[in-house]
Amino acid sequence: MNRFVNKSVLITGGGSGIGLATAKLFISEGAAVSVLDYKVSEALRHLDCDTYQADIRKADQVEEAVTKVIKKKKQIDILVNTAGIELVASLEQTTEDAWDRVLDTNLKGVFLVTRAVLPFLKETHGVIVNTASQLAYVGSALFTAYTASKAAILNFTRSLAIEMAKDGIRVNSVCPGAVDTPLLNRQFENGKTGPQGTIDDLIRMHPIGRLGKPEEIARPILFLCSDDASFMTGSALVVDGGYTSR
Ligand SMILES: NC(=O)c1ccc[n+]([C@@H]2O[C@H](COP(=O)([O-])OP(=O)(O)OC[C@H]3O[C@@H](n4cnc5c(N)ncnc54)[C@H](O)[C@@H]3O)[C@@H](O)[C@H]2O)c1
Repeated sequence: MNRFVNKSVLITGGGSGIGLATAKLFISEGAAVSVLDYKVSEALRHLDCDTYQADIRKADQVEEAVTKVIKKKKQIDILVNTAGIELVASLEQTTEDAWDRVLDTNLKGVFLVTRAVLPFLKETHGVIVNTASQLAYVGSALFTAYTASKAAILNFTRSLAIEMAKDGIRVNSVCPGAVDTPLLNRQFENGKTGPQGTIDDLIRMHPIGRLGKPEEIARPILFLCSDDASFMTGSALVVDGGYTSR
């Protein structure tokens, strides 16, 4: 398929995991992809895309990167916010710094990037997809900061969808279950058993019986960005192997 020829797509967190898979899929469908990440990963260097190093928690870095994207590409049609971080800690062990790091990345970062890109999406009647989580819907011990940040993304998405409808901009979120990426693997590093026990315990929480693959989230993201989703805005697409159906 070539659904995104002549479309300029900006992906945050495109250096790894779900963002990287999304960048690859957009490129394979003809899009001109720009990636904004604070690390330029080795995988990114081999992709046919432009990369901009910026920390989404910093307004000045975000605005500078978006200005460079516009200078090069002249337009932005699609924004996919995937950059995000995890935190596994009991509330009592959560430091103020750690709380700020999670909320500043997963929530404020989405706000800063979206605010910087909106003027250009108004010109193209563009599309935004935000990456929330299945943990936006349900609680999980040791994930208070993370789940708070992801639940907030759902209502950020809904409110922005209403606000931008008059400009022809659609805004949706995607809610992945556990996906095999560096973020997930960090939770189980060094033999650490993590909040849900072992990785096998986590897998058992997904009725489908396995972890998701990054491409299995990238494909629904591309669907949300495509004309097939033309009547969808303010929605959250749950792609979680049945996790929240239990
Ligand atoms: N992997 C999962 O199981 C899972 C499940 C549900 C939701 N998610 C969400 O999906 C998104 C992508 O997760 P992933 O698993 O692909 O993670 P990942 O760690 O593989 O990739 C995240 C990318 O974001 C970038 N990033 C992080 N903080 C940044 C910052 N401040 N500025 C710029 N870039 C930054 C990282 O450098 C990295 O390239 C995240 O928002 C995550 O919360 C992941």
